[in-house]
Amino acid sequence: MPVMMTEQRIRLIGKPLVFALCLSPLAWFAWAAWVGGLGANPVEAANRFTGDWALRFIVIVLTVSPLCRLSGWAAPMRFRRMLGLFAFAYTFLHTANYIALDQFFDWREIWADVFTRRYITVGWVAFLLLFPLAATSTNAMVRRLGAGRWKQLHRLVYLIAIGSVIHYYLMVKADVREPLIYAAVLALLLGYRVVAAMRRRAGRSRRRAPRVQPV
Ligand code: HEM
Repeated sequence: MPVMMTEQRIRLIGKPLVFALCLSPLAWFAWAAWVGGLGANPVEAANRFTGDWALRFIVIVLTVSPLCRLSGWAAPMRFRRMLGLFAFAYTFLHTANYIALDQFFDWREIWADVFTRRYITVGWVAFLLLFPLAATSTNAMVRRLGAGRWKQLHRLVYLIAIGSVIHYYLMVKADVREPLIYAAVLALLLGYRVVAAMRRRAGRSRRRAPRVQPV
């Protein structure tokens, strides 16, 4: 018997569970900070931790739709908005950590970084692009924009993901293996979407083509 998640189950169990799971890395980090387990440079540890989770959540968001299509399991689509907002939250913490604890609100230095460190420039672009997505994540905004325009706007997530991987790649000085793994996963996810879109388009034009009458 197929396991069907009812609307009520999703609301009462699924969403709180996914919310707790998304929050658990932060809880773990707070615990590590409390017991003094962040090593010699806690600010750097916080920057790396939040950066890693920001990127993971962006990749997770992009995985949801292909996963649902390939498996025929639709329930994860219901958590996509929450996952997206967690991607935004971790990125926000990452940037806030840089501004407050790394740069001590030295805006001149922060501004100079934008022009002198390429990975910071790319990071800012990715971060700023997340704002319109977070701001239009409510049902009211979907209705206001219309599904088509909303979908078009939310395609920015691909650009954000590419920017985030480039940011990571440029930041790493020697061992680029991890950013390259992210790049490979991203290429796979984007490739899947391109193929799916091409198939949909081909299907549509086949349906539109006039039937040739047998002579
Ligand atoms: C979508 C936006 C962003 C994502 C996904 C992201 C992700 C990451 C990742 C994955 C790392 C590497 C962490 C590691 O070494 O394990 C990183 C490092 C870093 N990011 Fe970001 N980042 C973003 C935006 C920004 C912005 C806007 C800033 C600053 C204004 C920034 C500043 C930094 C810094 C300074 C590091 C290096 C930390 C170090 O040297 O230890 N990032 N980021």
